[in-house]
Amino acid sequence: MTDLTRTLGCCYYPEHWPRSVWAEDARRMAETGLTWVRIGEFAWSRLEPRPGELQFEWLDEAIWTLGDAGLQVVLGTPTATPPRWMLERHPDMLAVDAEGRPRKFGSRRHYCFSHEGFAAESDRIVGLLADRYGRNEHIGAWQTDNEYGCHDTTISYSDAARTAFRRWLKDRYGEIDALNAAWGNVFWSMEYRDFDEIDLPNLTVTEPNPAHALAFRRFSSDQVVRFNRRQVEIIRARSKAPITHNYMGRITDFDHFAVGRDLDFASWDSYPLGFLEDRAGATPEQQRAYARQGDPDFQAFHHDLYRAVGRGRMWVMEQQPGPVNWAPHNPAPLPGMVRLWSWEAFAHGAECVSYFRWRQAPFAQEQLHSGLLRPDSQPAPGLEEARQVAQEIAQAPAVANARAEVALLFDYDADAAWAVQPHGAGLSYFGLVLDLYKAMRGLGLSIDILPATTRDFTGYRMIAAPGLMHMPDDLKSALASAAAEVLIGPRAGARDGEFSIPVPLPPAFPGLDVTVAHVESLRPDAPERLDGGGAFQGYSERLEGSARVVERCEDGAGALMREGRIAYLGGWPDPVAARRIVAEACARAGIDTQELPEGIRRRDTATERFWFNHGRTGAVVDGLDLPPLSVTRQLL
Ligand code: GAL
Repeated sequence: MTDLTRTLGCCYYPEHWPRSVWAEDARRMAETGLTWVRIGEFAWSRLEPRPGELQFEWLDEAIWTLGDAGLQVVLGTPTATPPRWMLERHPDMLAVDAEGRPRKFGSRRHYCFSHEGFAAESDRIVGLLADRYGRNEHIGAWQTDNEYGCHDTTISYSDAARTAFRRWLKDRYGEIDALNAAWGNVFWSMEYRDFDEIDLPNLTVTEPNPAHALAFRRFSSDQVVRFNRRQVEIIRARSKAPITHNYMGRITDFDHFAVGRDLDFASWDSYPLGFLEDRAGATPEQQRAYARQGDPDFQAFHHDLYRAVGRGRMWVMEQQPGPVNWAPHNPAPLPGMVRLWSWEAFAHGAECVSYFRWRQAPFAQEQLHSGLLRPDSQPAPGLEEARQVAQEIAQAPAVANARAEVALLFDYDADAAWAVQPHGAGLSYFGLVLDLYKAMRGLGLSIDILPATTRDFTGYRMIAAPGLMHMPDDLKSALASAAAEVLIGPRAGARDGEFSIPVPLPPAFPGLDVTVAHVESLRPDAPERLDGGGAFQGYSERLEGSARVVERCEDGAGALMREGRIAYLGGWPDPVAARRIVAEACARAGIDTQELPEGIRRRDTATERFWFNHGRTGAVVDGLDLPPLSVTRQLL
């Protein structure tokens, strides 16, 4: 239990509006019940219109105005939008795409994380901001940059990245022969004589060595961590306010846990309707059914994930308040959904839900993105729902996270490994983990997501670790000795740390006599039926060994094998199979499960049980009336 409270906020761009409206905006924010306002994260061209010509006075006034209205400010560093003049100083700072094309100025996030000249500019502007506002009483928190990785910007194939990658490789391998051996470069005569011969793994004739590709992804992730850490160190030296970064939905190409270790809490940007079509893994029927509500599990998954990234502390820094502009289609949420999404975040431990944005902008790229206000400052539909949530949280203010009984491991390095070698179209680690999560939620479970660096599993009774392609020995032994039912596979320990198939063959898990004899990926229209119902879809393994066969494929081969408390899952289960397998593991662990009706989800905090109905029709569960699009809060 913590003594943190539930709060609301919004994202505001004083530089977009005349000064004459700031005070009235601030008054209306406070009157709505908002207590936080995030500003500044794209304002570099107004803070420094020309190199060295600083204009901070407008920001001073904006901060006072907001603070005087009783709001606390989250101040963003503006490094996601380097102004045009920066290109004259650093023409080669642009990120370069996989085709070798520099990404142009004219939107945002055009910098390469490896460019030293730009990193120094970032240090400079962050230092100036922290010097000026580090002790400002109205600054309640800092946000570094904005959405690392957005618009596919983690990986850059620039000259700066190549130079830094060679250095990174030398630090890691020391000797070129060690790298050649680790990667298996004897294959196709890819051996190098020197680190300086190594190029970036793009534009090769056919696929590059997966070890090379994985190393480059790890390097690229480290570059984000390093860039963020520089900002954090500068701010910390000048301010006591906590520091966060706003992560995204299903962006996995850097290790968020590693970035998170340098920050005080995690935050993320939740756009449920935007996500539904392009990343929630929803079928066309689900997309139709939830077009105006969003996927019932996708936001919850990220709340749980980012609670772990924030080591227990999480915000939603940007919450969709109405239609967005960037998804393939952009419907308006059904009435009640802005409230439901807000409460769902609180149920999963959020300390603040901050709506993006205060007022819809009449100009530039996001003209069609709603705000809490219309461009004419009249209320948009989201405003009333935000006001209602503000009144409700005043009655239920405490953030009361509790340890769940069920843990689900998530590992960004495993995601990178699957991306480098998916083995079949459409196969991804994130997709596999999300499918397991959905099965768990459909059974009414509350879940803690844990990083794969966890070694102490005390308190958990069921642990799922799907798809961990690389499992260090100490992780295997920590799981083997946990007092919990443990579910591993598919692809558990399928590669060593350098992306070779280990011998003895995987999973080589202590106390579990199972060997993956061979693996195959499946056509989407040719799933492998399981004798208990449902199927493996997309990916399946042939298992050998003396462990007990719990589930079989139709041809009699083992699909799920168990020894003691450890079970190995030899394929990617469809929803029917996943639910059954999770339910059975929970039953063995003595955890109650409940098959929830379509669209109904629940979550427990330390003191409350929340019920969410994402559907357009009412439901009755446990004698409880759950109206359409509703939140029901019970005290435990
Ligand atoms: C986020 C971003 C915001 C805004 C928003 C629109 O990804 O952080 O600046 O662009 O999307 O939905």
